[in-house]
Formats: sequence, C-alpha cells, structure tokens
Amino acid sequence: MVAAAVPHRDPRAPRVLLIGLIFGPPGSGKGTQAARVEKEFDMSHLSTGEILRSEVAHGSAVGKEAARIMAAGDLVPDELIDRIVESRLGRTNPTESVLLDGFPRTTQQAKALDLMLAELGRRVDFVVALDVPEGLLVDRLLHRAQVEGRADDTREAIMERMHEYHARTAPVLDHYRRAGVPVAEVEGVGEVDEVFDRVRDAIKRVAGRI
Ligand code: AP5
Repeated sequence: MVAAAVPHRDPRAPRVLLIGLIFGPPGSGKGTQAARVEKEFDMSHLSTGEILRSEVAHGSAVGKEAARIMAAGDLVPDELIDRIVESRLGRTNPTESVLLDGFPRTTQQAKALDLMLAELGRRVDFVVALDVPEGLLVDRLLHRAQVEGRADDTREAIMERMHEYHARTAPVLDHYRRAGVPVAEVEGVGEVDEVFDRVRDAIKRVAGRI
C-alpha cells in the first residue's frame, strides 16, 4: 500500500497538554495513525515496538534479550519494558504532549505507567482503541511481510501476537475504564485518511473536556 501524505497540523486543533494512548491489536494501524496524530496534535510519538526494533538492529543488550521473544510474537518482560518507558518519559519535557503506542500492553504495565506519570504530576488523559476484524488484521500483516519482511510477520508469530493481545492486552482497556479515563473505540477499517478523521474527532472530543 502506498502511504498517504501526512497532513499538516490543523491550526484550530486544541493545544492542551495530553498523555494519550493509541491502542489496538497487531496490524490495527496504531503506528500509521500515530504518525498523523503526532503532527495534528503536536504530540511526541513513543512506540515501544519501534524502540525495541531499533535495539535489536543495534545489537544492544536489550535487543539481544528481546529479539527472540519478539520474533516468536510473545511479549517482552514487563520489567524490561517499564524501564525503557520510564527512562524515555523522564526525558520528555513537562510541557510536551505524548502519544504512547504499544504500551501499556499488560495490566501490570498500566499500573507501572500510572505510577510513573503520577511522579511527573501527569496522568493518562485518553485512550483511542482501534477496532478491526481479526481476518483483516492477518491479511494486512501478511501483506506487510511481503513488502517489508518484518521478523514477526510470519503466520505463526502473527497468531501468537493475536493470542497475547486477547489474553493480556485487551484487559488493559478495563483498567482505564475503571479509572474513569475516556476510552474512544474507533472503527479502524477504511482508507487511512478516513480512519484518521475518526481518530481526530475522538481526540478533539476528549481534549475539549480537559
Ligand atoms: P509493535 O511494534 O507494537 O507491534 P504490534 O502491536 O504487533 O503492531 P504492528 O506494528 O504490527 O501494527 P500497528 O497496529 O502499529 O499497525 P501499523 O500501522 O503498523 O510490537 C512488536 C513486538 O514488540 C510485540 O509483539 C512484542 O514482542 C514487543 N513489544 C512492543 N511493546 C511491548 C510492550 N509494551 N510489552 C511487551 N512487549 C512489547 O499497520 C499495519 C499494516 O497495515 C501496515 O502495513 C500498514 O500500512 C497497514 N495499514 C494501516 N492502516 C491501514 C488501513 N486503514 N487500511 C489498510 N492497511 C492499513
């Protein structure tokens, strides 16, 4: 698929400081939409999957620990990922809005994030959860396998990633609902720009209430 151009920020978009999560199963378009949200709402995009892939590519100690786990479609240990996120969040400017992509992925990670943000005097302001039927997710990832050859886009690893999502990641949404954080479920099927229109509207609604 040819990536559509990322639109410039709408000057009428709200300028509130936000901590947001882009959430959804593998292949739902988190990374694709995050690139647009980053521009539109002036947010720093922090993707744990991208950070880990960069560590793997550089052959660092973290990368060596994560490579085999990621290729199998499993989740890397909470302690490792919590340390990575804590260090990145600690480096963000207090006047910066941040969009987390791929984190938290377990209820333990969500609790750890709450503590990290509380120490910085911040909290999760919204969650945008992309909803895409599983058959379409698998098709997208198998298609990407042919184009990009990502190590975890094999059929076996994709199935394991889906399993991990349902077993360990989906319950994270309830953590936020229970805490009263706005969770916007957005249909992730359609052209990338169409999905972005829905994501943008959902964030504007939430930001308008802050
Ligand atoms: P991560 O990189 O987060 O991967 P993922 O969740 O499996 O998600 P993907 O990157 O595959 O998909 P996406 O939802 O971002 O969609 P995308 O925009 O890319 O994590 C990888 C691994 O790292 C994990 O399995 C785990 O091992 C480890 N990890 C990461 N974070 C962790 C954590 N917190 N704890 C523990 N382990 C962690 O789109 C997918 C494809 O679809 C692309 O080809 C795209 O072009 C296409 N596409 C997007 N939108 C559309 C559309 N609307 N229509 C058609 N095609 C579309």
